[in-house]
Amino acid sequence: MIIAVPSETAPGEHRVALSPESAARLVKAGHDVRIEAGAGTRAGFPDSAYDAAGVRVVSMAHLYTDAALVCRVLAPSIEEVTLLPPGATLLALLSPSRNGALLALLANLQITALALELVPRITRAQSMDVLSSQSTVAGYKAVLLGASALPKFLPMLTTAAGTVSPARVFVIGAGVAGLQAIATARRLGGVVSAFDVRPAAREQVQSLGATFVAAELVTATGETAGGYARAQSAGETERTREALAAHLREVDLVVTTAQIPGREAPRLITAEMVGTMRPGAVIVDLAAESGGNCELTRPGETVQAGAVTILGPLNIAATVPFHASQMFGKNVLALVLHMSKELALVVDPADEILGPMTVVRDGAVVVPSPS
Ligand code: NAI
Repeated sequence: MIIAVPSETAPGEHRVALSPESAARLVKAGHDVRIEAGAGTRAGFPDSAYDAAGVRVVSMAHLYTDAALVCRVLAPSIEEVTLLPPGATLLALLSPSRNGALLALLANLQITALALELVPRITRAQSMDVLSSQSTVAGYKAVLLGASALPKFLPMLTTAAGTVSPARVFVIGAGVAGLQAIATARRLGGVVSAFDVRPAAREQVQSLGATFVAAELVTATGETAGGYARAQSAGETERTREALAAHLREVDLVVTTAQIPGREAPRLITAEMVGTMRPGAVIVDLAAESGGNCELTRPGETVQAGAVTILGPLNIAATVPFHASQMFGKNVLALVLHMSKELALVVDPADEILGPMTVVRDGAVVVPSPS
């Protein structure tokens, strides 16, 4: 099977869909892997590393000839879609709910499209889950961004020039990104607390050495059968804000990651609450892309609200492109091995992993059934 990996073209997107290590595994499995020259350079993978892995490094003019599978990080632009080989399968983060025109064009071109964000959250598919791997990167980097925007140290220091108290870090939303933010802030010496509405999160937070706050708000019904947080009612959100308000006044760095799949992020920090925070405090809002957990967040911008700084970074995983691509590549490798039978591509709509991911098939846009 010919597998093609083009360069990413979105501004600031420095990742690549397959690292040399993952590509080498596919080559060993008998696949013919091609990569566009320079596609891995910005992630720290030179063409020579792919060449040594047995990958054919080619120009765009030769990339797609007879390719059965095209692996990307982000969705292609409309112009790039027209270059795809008709009948091929495309694997990428396709943002299907926002990309209707793109999906329709893929359907017209008889391309099968699999959306990486729709990998089901089941144990069997954990190794294929790019949302998790990229959230790990985001949680880590959010703390580094916050730490460098803080006018303080994170760790406690005892020096000849006096003793410095550790910074207080508060993480809201303790899923994949939040747990990595907690672990990173702890490694940097911060005193860390966290909150989540899912009961399972409490033990995970505590096992990382952080304090769980506002535990009285957590109920068994905070979680759906699928293990995700349930969307809170307006009254519940108001109670969360009230419970978090006093704690927010005492912290230096806040990392927010609270999200409900397919919805606007819950607004947990109001402008009024920001106004009561410590001078120099920093909020890093990882939910900026879906509307933000803080009322003052502006996606992709840094907002100065009095003496508080609010960061709304977008596509943060792309700023750690080496390891983000290495993890993404491992996810793609696991998926490709799962969908190739005797070196041919088999996208079975009845497959419990591939079925829910398929957004375009047989010339039609398929709306994935809600999980
Ligand atoms: P996410 O990115 O959708 O949300 C982030 C966090 O925000 C979640 O922990 C959620 O509970 C929390 N949250 C939502 N509303 C909130 C509110 N009003 N206040 C405070 N916190 C709020 O979630 P993520 O990180 O993708 O994972 C969520 C769940 O999925 C977890 O149970 C995780 O263990 C599970 N999971 C399972 C996988 C698998 O089995 N393959 C892979 C990855 C995650």
